[in-house]
Formats: sequence, C-alpha cells, structure tokens
Amino acid sequence: MAVLVTGGSGYIGSHTAIELLNSGKEIVILDNFYNSCPKVLDRIRELSGKDFAFEECDIRDADGLRRVFEKHNIDSVIHFAGLKAVGESCQKPLLYYDNNISGTVTLCQVMAEYGCKKIVFSSSATVYGEHNISPLNETMKTGGTTNPYGTTKHFIEQILTDTAKADSEWSVCLLRYFNPIGAHESGRIGESPNGIPNNLMPYITQVAEGKREFLSVYGNDYDTVDGTGVRDYIHVVDLAKGHLKALEKIEKENDTFVYNLGTGTGYSVLQVVEAFEKASGVKVPYKIVDRRPGDLATCYSDPSKAEKELGWKAEKGIDEMCADSYRWQHNNPNGYED
Ligand code: NAD
Ligand code: UFG
Repeated sequence: MAVLVTGGSGYIGSHTAIELLNSGKEIVILDNFYNSCPKVLDRIRELSGKDFAFEECDIRDADGLRRVFEKHNIDSVIHFAGLKAVGESCQKPLLYYDNNISGTVTLCQVMAEYGCKKIVFSSSATVYGEHNISPLNETMKTGGTTNPYGTTKHFIEQILTDTAKADSEWSVCLLRYFNPIGAHESGRIGESPNGIPNNLMPYITQVAEGKREFLSVYGNDYDTVDGTGVRDYIHVVDLAKGHLKALEKIEKENDTFVYNLGTGTGYSVLQVVEAFEKASGVKVPYKIVDRRPGDLATCYSDPSKAEKELGWKAEKGIDEMCADSYRWQHNNPNGYED
C-alpha cells in the first residue's frame, strides 16, 4: 500500500517524502510543477537511496487522479498541493479558491471513489486569524482570516471536518504549520522561491549570498521584545517528521484531528538576523521600513497537544535552522536552476 504525496516536489513535500522513504513507506508523488521542478525528484532519490513513482497531474483533474488511483494501491494521502503566496492570493482570489479549494474537493471525491479515506492536510497558523493571542492552541476559535490564501485553509479545514463527520470511515488530520524554514542538512534540497522572496528566511539567505543588497525589516514599532515581528520558526525536517506521526494516528483511528506544528518559541526578525549571522559568519545588512499590511506583531504556537497525542516535538533550534538554510542557498545560489 502506498501513500500519495500531493505537492511532493515542493519545499515541505520533498522533505517529507525523504522521511517517508527513510521510514520504509512506499510513496507516489503527484505534482503539476506549478511551483517546483522535476530535478527535485532525482534529489529525493539520491538522498533516500530509494525509488518511488511520480505522476504529473493537477489535483483539479478528476480523470487524471482516477488514472493515478487505478494504477497504484493508495490507502492514504498527505496533501501538500496548493498555492501559498498571500499577496498573489489577494490579486488572484479565484485562482486560489479554484486551485486550493476545488482541487481539494476533487481530490477527496476521487479518494472516496477508490475507498481511500485517510488524509493529512497542510493547514496553517493563519487560520487563527488576527484576534487570538499567542501562544495559539487548537481549542481557539478559527476564522477571521485576512486574505484569500488564509481563507482557503480555513474553508478546507471545514470541508474535511464535515466530510469526516458525515462518513465515519474518513480519518482526517489537519496540521497547522507555523513558519517552516531550514533545509535538509545535505544542502541538496530546500526552498526555491520564484522571483523576489516574500518570506523572511529566503530573503535573508539571498542577501547573505549577495543576490540582494539588504533586508527590509517591516516595522520596528510593534509591541515585541525589540519592536520587530515575532514568529515561531520551525525546521522543515522537524515539520516533515510530524507528518509521519500524523499518518500513524489516522492509520489507527478514524476521526478528525488537529495539531499545531511549531516549536512554541517566538523569535523577532532581528533575533533571526542575529542568529543567521552567527550561524553563517556572513553579515546581513538591513533597513527598517514601514510595516507590511496584514502582518501580526506576534504569532507562536502552543505545541503541547502534538507532543501529548502524537509523541512529536520539534528538536532543531534556530541555529540549526539558520545554518541549514544558508548551506542550501550557498550550495545552490539559483535554487534548482543551477
Ligand atoms: P510549495 O509551493 O513549495 O509546494 C506546493 C507544491 O504543490 C508545489 O510543488 C506545486 O507545484 C504543487 N501544486 C500546486 N498546485 C497544484 C495542483 N493544482 N495540482 C498539483 N500540484 C500542485 O509550498 P510548500 O511551502 O511546500 O507548502 C506545502 C503546503 O503547505 C501548501 O499547501 C502550503 O499552503 C502549506 N503551508 C506552507 C507554509 C509555508 O510557510 N511554506 C505555511 C503553512 C502552510
Ligand atoms: N519580514 C521582514 N522582511 C521580509 C520578510 C518578512 O521583516 O522581507 C518579517 C515579517 O514582517 C514578519 C516575519 O518577518 O514579522 C515573518 O514573515 P514571513 O513572510 O516569513 O512569514 P509570515 O509569518 O508573514 O507568513 C507565514 C506564511 C504564510 C502564512 C503565515 C501564517 O508565509 O503563508 O505564516 O501561518 F499564512
């Protein structure tokens, strides 16, 4: 029996694929390469020393998905496929609602046709909206999202929860990621954003590599330790390992589960810059600029539920996250284009 990994050639999916293969699982990766490239697949094979099936397919293509389910014996799905750029989602909401929501509905319909009713879903801390106060825990009310990307995550959580409520054969695990950074310690796979990075760590690594002149720090007048925004950064390999625990959970029990995947510790932008400089030995010039619209001052998790129920806890600290991010960028200055 195989695990279908949608979006498996992307940043988090590729790291999770390696952990799945290392644990002896059979996997099928499915992706349409909207935000990734075929080279990743060879690197997953290289790092795991194992082979796997790959299907180029869009999750909105029901017939394409049916062909995948006909061909492979799939009994669970880890569903990463989705678009994730907050700014772009404000400009192209219909693209985001179609790709993320329609895509997930189509995927679940085809899964049900083939009697496959176990799914782990990539949700986000963004579902907590702006009104909850950190540390965020899973009992807090979700919604009140501030952009179409966040709203797709909130709606999909609801869609999957309703699906499992209506049919007790379904088992759903919603994983709310905090801020994934870092890369595989080999420096062979990592995050490879197109164009100008939106997120903090890829921007910092590109400044360190001399590809960009300086980091713009979005505001230093928040009510935080040094006035800059505070986030819960989590190493992508720790995050990947959380998916294996989530899979074990839904293999044993049919229900809807929801877990934060974070470290529980918040770092400010300037604390991340400092940690990065220490880990890399490279100076990161920065300028303080205006706040970025929509940003929260502080967002970090209470990760205790995942520890208690899944036996999962993030193990890697900020220094390792920074060192691994830098190694990936330094060894692959143009990402997978090299
Ligand atoms: P990513 O863009 O690197 O990976 C997503 C993959 O999905 C890409 O390879 C892309 O080509 C593929 N994809 C997109 N639409 C598809 C479609 N219609 N059919 C088939 N494949 C499709 O992103 P990532 O950082 O690895 O994120 C994975 C998931 O985790 C996403 O759902 C994202 O929203 C979620 N998430 C990410 C973060 C983060 O900060 N990286 C935080 C919270 C949640
Ligand atoms: N920041 C800068 N300069 C930059 C980029 C970011 O100062 O060039 C700051 C931001 O203002 C924020 C922090 O760095 O304080 C982190 O910003 P990111 O863009 O890396 O991450 P966010 O927390 O804003 O967003 C992430 C994901 C979203 C997700 C959200 C909540 O990118 O997809 O977490 O889960 F919705």
